[in-house]
Amino acid sequence: MQYDMTIRLGTDAEKQELLADYPNIKNVIRDGGYFIVAKIEDTVVGYLWAFKRKIPAPVEQDEIFINIIEVIYTNLRCQGVASKMISAIIEIAKEEKAYQVRAYCDIGNVPSHRLWLKNKFSISPVKMPDGSISGSFVSYLL
Ligand SMILES: CC(C)(COP(=O)(O)OP(=O)(O)OC[C@H]1O[C@@H](n2cnc3c(N)ncnc32)[C@H](O)[C@@H]1OP(=O)(O)O)[C@@H](O)C(=O)NCCC(=O)NCCS
Repeated sequence: MQYDMTIRLGTDAEKQELLADYPNIKNVIRDGGYFIVAKIEDTVVGYLWAFKRKIPAPVEQDEIFINIIEVIYTNLRCQGVASKMISAIIEIAKEEKAYQVRAYCDIGNVPSHRLWLKNKFSISPVKMPDGSISGSFVSYLL
């Protein structure tokens, strides 16, 4: 089935509505930043929230860090919705003259790793002091 989907910056009202429907999201979305929504008619079916910051390393450049990306409606996953939101944030990052777009995903999250791989992000697994791998930082150089 084909859906008429819109990917765009979300409004404050849409953000508040999402937080009311899914209270846990307040742990990953803050004020400001870049809030992108995937909408089918009046329904937010997916969202991304990212923020701009100085890269926490001595390079004097900015990055856009994606704190969360989710396709809420599981029946709509694996159809490129998240990839479209990533394309949208990459465009914004270019306009913002950021050096890179980055995110972190837990090591057990196969769909997320596949998503970053498909969108040409580098995958940098993070090794903990005990030798275990906790997750991967993923980066896209603009
Ligand atoms: C991760 C997530 C955002 C991906 O959204 P999506 O719209 O399905 O992503 P896309 O369709 O653009 O791409 C996903 C890719 O991963 C693949 N994939 C998804 N689940 C998979 C699985 N279990 N095993 C192998 N590949 C998988 C898809 O097939 C697709 O690749 P393909 O097009 O080459 O086949 C979605 O699964 C989700 O919302 N997960 C819960 C929240 C989350 O974990 N977010 C990321 C952490 S911040």
